[in-house]
Amino acid sequence: MKISGAIALVTGANRGLGLHFVEALIEFGAAKIYATARNIDALAPLAEKYQNQFVPLSLDVTEQAQVEVAAEKATDVTLLLNNAGALNHRGLMEAVDLSGFEAEMAVNVFGLARMCQTFAPIIAANGGGAITNMLSVASLMNFPPFGTYAATKAAAMSLTDCLRFEMRDKGVEVFGVYAGLIDTDMTGDIAGDKVSPGEVARNTMLGMEAGDVNIDADDRAKTVRPELRNDPDGFTKESWLRAAEFRVNHPLG
Ligand SMILES: NC(=O)c1ccc[n+]([C@@H]2O[C@H](COP(=O)([O-])OP(=O)(O)OC[C@H]3O[C@@H](n4cnc5c(N)ncnc54)[C@H](OP(=O)(O)O)[C@@H]3O)[C@@H](O)[C@H]2O)c1
Repeated sequence: MKISGAIALVTGANRGLGLHFVEALIEFGAAKIYATARNIDALAPLAEKYQNQFVPLSLDVTEQAQVEVAAEKATDVTLLLNNAGALNHRGLMEAVDLSGFEAEMAVNVFGLARMCQTFAPIIAANGGGAITNMLSVASLMNFPPFGTYAATKAAAMSLTDCLRFEMRDKGVEVFGVYAGLIDTDMTGDIAGDKVSPGEVARNTMLGMEAGDVNIDADDRAKTVRPELRNDPDGFTKESWLRAAEFRVNHPLG
């Protein structure tokens, strides 16, 4: 996917990684960006900075009607970047009434699915392009302190693979992006090594341009994938040790 000249739509563009995706898209030559957010006012600083290239849209990905309105406005999109996400910091037994898990599913799985279903035909009709889904190292393996989130990210990875098959002869490339901890609000209360969102955003652009369907956008993703392949049992044991240590250092509030 050539970013130069692309007309992109980014979900959750107001902060965190989404904001850096906007910056990276501009850096790599995107012609126009539909930057979407639940609160459109939060896009004002970016709108002022990028002016003509930048179209702010109000969009909650859990609301079908809002997705349809966005699709009526953004008819020229060639690159959809599904970035919006939610994390509830709970394992399955910790999730208790499941409301946090349902909220994660609504954004990370059904929101992403809704955006793909709506925009894939638009991108195909515009002569092709790409859909890029922000996944996670947690898509590849469950990390129990984020157990329900990991389940949603695994489901999102599975849908990404399904979509790649379905769009294979329609000119729409489908990318999944993987990373460990990224330094955003989502991980603000988590101690540990974190990659900068700018680096993940730039590596995502480079991965799309290189045609890597699975974009390992930080060192953690680059390490986990081969370790899981080479020694899955050893990796699971190590992961459980990390999970137990994590829960001691980050007790549930
Ligand atoms: N941070 C990490 O360590 C990490 C690692 C791997 C993957 N990821 C993934 O990277 C993506 C971006 O995460 P982040 O780290 O930038 O998180 P963040 O700082 O918490 O930002 C999340 C973004 O998603 C938006 N969002 C949440 N629910 C939404 C909804 N219903 N409709 C539209 N937008 C919604 C938020 O909007 P509001 O401002 O309105 O809340 C915000 O813009 C997510 O998919 C996340 O799962 C993050």
